[in-house]
Amino acid sequence: MDLGFANKVVIVTGGASNIGRAISREFAAEDAMVAILDRDIDQADRTSNEIKASGGRATAYQLDVTDVEATRAAVQKVEADLGPVAVLVNNVGWNGKAEFFLGLTPDRWQKAYELNLFSTFNVTQPVLARMVERRTGSIVSIASDAGFGEFRMADYGAMKAGVLAFTRTIAKEYGRYGIRANAVAPGLVIPADDDIGDGSLWKTDIGMGPKEIRNIESGIPLRRRSEAIDIAWSVLFLASERARQLTGQVVSVSGGFQMPR
Ligand SMILES: NC(=O)c1ccc[n+]([C@@H]2O[C@H](COP(=O)([O-])OP(=O)(O)OC[C@H]3O[C@@H](n4cnc5c(N)ncnc54)[C@H](O)[C@@H]3O)[C@@H](O)[C@H]2O)c1
Repeated sequence: MDLGFANKVVIVTGGASNIGRAISREFAAEDAMVAILDRDIDQADRTSNEIKASGGRATAYQLDVTDVEATRAAVQKVEADLGPVAVLVNNVGWNGKAEFFLGLTPDRWQKAYELNLFSTFNVTQPVLARMVERRTGSIVSIASDAGFGEFRMADYGAMKAGVLAFTRTIAKEYGRYGIRANAVAPGLVIPADDDIGDGSLWKTDIGMGPKEIRNIESGIPLRRRSEAIDIAWSVLFLASERARQLTGQVVSVSGGFQMPR
């Protein structure tokens, strides 16, 4: 199935590590021109160089997606360097160590907001404005199974639920301009050491020991954890014209752990 990404410009925020890295690689394998916007430039360079070494096209841009001015400038630069952005993948996200609600601090709530929800607003606005002018574009935002409500993830889950409402609103407001917006909600994806740089949250303690992982696995109907490439495949499908009649949808890629309606 040709997904139609040849020579299309695709932005992947946080495209250097783990899930974003798999998304970047899969788009490049479909002959897209991938712009990796990531705060961790060493890992972004590593991922883009690997893509180039395997015959694909990728460019690394250093960016903190919570910085308003820098994000606007980066979007402009990507379009000047590569051409009009056809696809935006809002992949940057962050969760702290698993914690019951009463243990959450205001600072942590604020950080979860900035990295999961504000970042999505901040990158989408300048990209969407251009897509609307051109009357075409597709946006896929990475939510989380936690966005449907999960123990010890009130801050992160609330922000990811916000990403879902945001996605549906964009789909309703801009569908008439040929824009589609969808979300993918991954289940737990534990990266290999080789797939992450220092900017990855997996370099920190997020409270996921063998016991927590076993607990999650035992609740997965398909009895296997998701891999980064599982998320990437759904992202590519939703971003493609093969999903031309899909907008405002969320797909949980979790082996059935969540079954959103
Ligand atoms: N891994 C999981 O189990 C899981 C499960 C559900 C949802 N998700 C979501 O999937 C997405 C990717 O998760 P992951 O596990 O690959 O994360 P990760 O931490 O491994 O990678 C995130 C990438 O984003 C970059 N980044 C972080 N902050 C940034 C900023 N301010 N500006 C620019 N780049 C920044 C990092 O350098 C890194 O390359 C996130 O939205 C996350 O919430 C992950």
